[in-house]
Amino acid sequence: MKTAAKHENFSYRLWRYDGAPGELIPLLQSAQEHFGYIPRRAINYIAGATAIPESDIYGVITFYSQFRLRPMGKYVIRVCVGTACHVSGAKLIRETIEDELGIEVDDTTEDGLFTLNTVACIGCCSLAPVIMINDDTHGSLTPASVRKILRNYRKKAAVSTDSIAATSSGIG
Ligand code: FES
Repeated sequence: MKTAAKHENFSYRLWRYDGAPGELIPLLQSAQEHFGYIPRRAINYIAGATAIPESDIYGVITFYSQFRLRPMGKYVIRVCVGTACHVSGAKLIRETIEDELGIEVDDTTEDGLFTLNTVACIGCCSLAPVIMINDDTHGSLTPASVRKILRNYRKKAAVSTDSIAATSSGIG
């Protein structure tokens, strides 16, 4: 029901678009709210309804970091870059994650498993440097421990994929 309401919101915005300047950003925001990112088909709809060339729409999307052209990963990593974490090595932790996953901040791995973001203080300063992975907090990190944590998440994801495959093929 919630999804249907969001879809109506996106469609409604498209329908009532009247060419007013500044309407493109709210349209993109509502598309992202509906789809979780801005898929190619949403860009097609918007280009059709507004007569704004797709290349211009892509230009706006890539200019603003709030917009995503790909869905969020299964695991969303938030590296705290607040003051306590900053002085305790948050930069090194971020660089280690980027190296381990082969992505940069605001990006998602090719397999759709991880999205990397940064965040201001998450309220666990005594555990600095800290990251959150979905709702779980990991603190007192070192480059080695953060690599281990990420590899454990990968293993966990592989196990759940294997068990789904086994269940659907009647094994297990
Ligand atoms: S500065 Fe990172 S948790 Fe507070």
